[in-house]
Amino acid sequence: MPRLPFITFEGSEGSGKSTQADRLAAHLQKCNVPYLLTREPGGTPIGESIRDLLQFAPHNSGMTPETELLLFEASRSQLVREIIKPALERGICVIADRFFDSTTVYQGAARKLDRQIIERLNAFAVGVCIPDVTFVLDVDAATAESRMQLEPRKADRMEQQPVEFYERVRDGYRELAASEPKRIVMVHGSGGVDAIEKQIWETLSSRFPVLAKVSNR
Ligand code: TMP
Repeated sequence: MPRLPFITFEGSEGSGKSTQADRLAAHLQKCNVPYLLTREPGGTPIGESIRDLLQFAPHNSGMTPETELLLFEASRSQLVREIIKPALERGICVIADRFFDSTTVYQGAARKLDRQIIERLNAFAVGVCIPDVTFVLDVDAATAESRMQLEPRKADRMEQQPVEFYERVRDGYRELAASEPKRIVMVHGSGGVDAIEKQIWETLSSRFPVLAKVSNR
């Protein structure tokens, strides 16, 4: 069997990216395609501890943007080497809920840290593991916020930003997608969940014949 793809999902909080990552995983399972679903920050025991530090640790409110950047990259380095690279080498399809584009957009476009430093840190963290395709779920800030309010839970540190921050996140994803049109596919996240799932599967099966074959079985 040819190598199965490395697929990433991106978008702001409330964009529906995690729902679509879960749906894709369920579809691959139904088609008997070996897959692994992971997330960032997190996905390994070390990465999940870093996630907790970034989001919920009681002492994290004074975290500097530079520390935040390095923690995301630390979690990513571990995930790539412990999980993603070995899985791709074993012929497993990898789905990641967020990957290095999140850093380019959140720490670069939104926090305004130096782009060149981010590019170099991203490259150092991911090595040869570049996604074959990335879906960016694009929704306006108001839709994203109303969806987040449907989830009755305490906002984590990353979710306590002013609305302008999320506007910069959205613009950042759009700019990134325009600069890498081959890899990044923008998806209107305000459509119905089923219609978005169908659009994503159609894109995948047209790009990867190995996936088109399994859905015709
Ligand atoms: P989520 O995956 O549940 O949406 O939450 C992860 C949070 O971390 C979200 O606010 C986006 C943020 N984040 C960054 O700022 N930079 C990164 O590199 C990653 C992976 C996530």
